[in-house]
Amino acid sequence: VIDADAAPCSVGVVVVAAGSGTRLGAGLPKAFVPLRGRPLLGHAVDTVARLPQLGSLVVVAPPEVADPAGASWAGVDLPPDAVVVAGGASRTASVAAGLAAVGDVDVVLVHDAARCLTPLAVFERVVDAVRGGAAGAVPGIPLVDTVKTVDADGVITGTPDRASLRAVQTPQGFAREVLVAAYRSGLAATDDAALVELGGHHVVVVEGDALAFKVTTRDDLEHAERVLAQRAGAAAERLPD
Ligand code: CTP
Ligand code: MG
Repeated sequence: VIDADAAPCSVGVVVVAAGSGTRLGAGLPKAFVPLRGRPLLGHAVDTVARLPQLGSLVVVAPPEVADPAGASWAGVDLPPDAVVVAGGASRTASVAAGLAAVGDVDVVLVHDAARCLTPLAVFERVVDAVRGGAAGAVPGIPLVDTVKTVDADGVITGTPDRASLRAVQTPQGFAREVLVAAYRSGLAATDDAALVELGGHHVVVVEGDALAFKVTTRDDLEHAERVLAQRAGAAAERLPD
């Protein structure tokens, strides 16, 4: 057993921001869409930069905006040693590009730029679980709806016990060598944990947070705007006049 408190641990974070944001339909890549005047990516990077064990940060950007000196990057405060690489046509390809640039770290977290309001505590819970010996750890929250499995005709084939289901979020964290091996398999999946699970590794779910929701549609962006507006309002009230 590794003594998690004694062992030095470096964490690399890959922020995937190379998607086009088709469902949001803002006319520019989703991670660069402004949220209260700053790109979603800027909000996400601010939180990652506060992670105590941060050893490397890789941002995976769309090829057409991969130059961090460009105008779209205004409001994204990258730490000086952050690396920017161009993404691929699928999320899986983008993660693979980021993973190739993350360097020699113990733990890798993969995070969606689109989950731009994910609290720091969620990152810390994921890191702690991997430091504690899990091959992988993902944040998850209980489901509010009952879920059905259906066949191609829409006929219900089953009702999984809701108590055993979790909706999972990012950041998803792994021992670096485990994730690298999983990506070498060449398979594709909608989340990184699935590839690691396929390799027979134990991946645990840690407590997620409603604020780790993914900005997918216009409604989600408006929800994020309201969260930040409320925060700004609360902060203004605390100021003495
Ligand atoms: N992503 C990526 N490279 C891709 C596709 C997605 O880096 N080729 C990233 C997105 O930038 C996002 C995260 O993966 O931060 C989750 O993807 P999603 O929410 O599906 O974003 P988009 O693919 O941009 O949106 P859409 O599917 O609506 O086009
Ligand atoms: Mg997508």
